[in-house]
Amino acid sequence: MSPAPTGPAAVVVLAAGAGTRMKSRTPKILHEIGGLSMVGHALRAARSLQPQRLAIVVRHERDLVEGHVSALDPEALIIDQDDIPGTGRAVEAAIEALDAEAELAGTVVVTYGDVPLLTGELLGELVSIHESQGNAVTVLTAVLDDATGYGRILRAADGTVAGIREHKDASEEERAIREINSGIYAFDAAALRSALAHITTDNAQGEKYLTDVLGLARDAGGRVAALPTEDRWQVEGANDRVQLAALGAEHNRRIVEAWMRAGVTVVDPSTTWIDSTVTLDEDVRILPNTQLHGSTTVARDAVVGPDTTLTDVTVGEGATVVRTHGSGSVIGPKANVGPFTYLRPGTVLGEKGKIGAFYETKNVTIGRGSKLSHLGYAGDAEIGEDTNIGCGNITANYDGEKKHRTVIGSGVRTGSNTVFVAPVSVGDGAYSGAGAVIRKDVPPGALALSLASQRNAEGWVLTHRAGTESARRAQAALDAREAAPQNPSNTPAITEEGIQA
Ligand code: UD1
Ligand code: CA
Repeated sequence: MSPAPTGPAAVVVLAAGAGTRMKSRTPKILHEIGGLSMVGHALRAARSLQPQRLAIVVRHERDLVEGHVSALDPEALIIDQDDIPGTGRAVEAAIEALDAEAELAGTVVVTYGDVPLLTGELLGELVSIHESQGNAVTVLTAVLDDATGYGRILRAADGTVAGIREHKDASEEERAIREINSGIYAFDAAALRSALAHITTDNAQGEKYLTDVLGLARDAGGRVAALPTEDRWQVEGANDRVQLAALGAEHNRRIVEAWMRAGVTVVDPSTTWIDSTVTLDEDVRILPNTQLHGSTTVARDAVVGPDTTLTDVTVGEGATVVRTHGSGSVIGPKANVGPFTYLRPGTVLGEKGKIGAFYETKNVTIGRGSKLSHLGYAGDAEIGEDTNIGCGNITANYDGEKKHRTVIGSGVRTGSNTVFVAPVSVGDGAYSGAGAVIRKDVPPGALALSLASQRNAEGWVLTHRAGTESARRAQAALDAREAAPQNPSNTPAITEEGIQA
């Protein structure tokens, strides 16, 4: 059991809007920054308050959104908004549904599903100011150079918050106000409930405005206050893909900066992308053009990059990973990977092991000190310790129907272009010759040769492949040889290729 929540009575995340400016078949709030959907960021910030209940209001593409939200936060209560539009209606629907379970009392936080840089810390500050001042409503605000489109904060002569005016309903004078409503609030549940009962759709957009609650709460004698933030990114929403990219870049800038302050060297922050779910140790070095995603972790003194993308990869202490594309893999301490290496899921490389240039691996365990240095494929295999796999080796794991395993022991040395036709095993200390095709198990210490020494079966193509282009050309060449006069002096002929005996 998780500990009992100690935070506000509820957090309500508004996410019913259509987000048409994204021009996407994917609902707006499912678009990602930093490896997590925008609504994922919103749920994370909301959850960090440890609310007693967490609700999300949906409508547009509700099934897709519900599926995504339940996967991220199974405890979140999904609430449907009806045909009546507006943020006020959305919150009304949430309060009704929450009250029906158990009447809300205390602080209710309202936030949006499309404000991905908002942190739990700032939300927490909003709640603590709200509660310590005993406010009916506390609204998070920001002062912007261009406030176009936003609701404006109306201040009374004494500086207290008198209300909010939506841009479309505002006078010229009100539009000159640069303090805007972020749409993020802390409410007292009782004050919110009674104000919501009085809001109407009598405005420029014919919507129930949540913003009307502030004026109504004040009229009812409640204290209404604002928490202005200097960090405008935290209240910024992404309405189109241009804003999504800008928020994504800022999100990344913050993560990369935090890692540098924690002791990670990032040579080029502008081309380094790190998801918020990644963890890095002190003295890790990240070289340019590197992307670290998902549950990737990098241990002390490891060097990653340049030009490397790792998703859910564990990089051990002191390892180097150069120009590599990897996922679902483990790279052992002091191991070397790359350049130009493709690690697919299930690759486990032991301490001081190596997977070199132009190698693809999948579902393979490679023991301590073993090396797969160049040009090959290792899949569905197990390789022991201190084994050297020669250039161009391939595990032929697929017979067209099923995958089979290759097991290679320790201290093995394989010749160039060895092919392991799985299922097959190679014992400890065994060797294979260049070009060997290993179809039968190799006992420990044996040298496996499958290529006979070269002999030429003269005319084989003429008899076994009669009528083919090869046979036709071979015949023509043999006929020409027959017709040519013998070289009388029997001295070597000089051709373009060199001297022919
Ligand atoms: C709203 C505020 C405005 C504020 C701005 C900040 C109101 C009336 N206005 O305006 O003062 O400056 O946010 O971004 O509240 N939503 C629903 N159901 C609805 C309508 C919206 O759940 O019926 C959700 C949306 O999905 C979105 C959020 O509420 O997450 C804000 O909706 P949006 O239409 O963007 O509000 P604005 O008109 O921009
Ligand atoms: Ca908006």
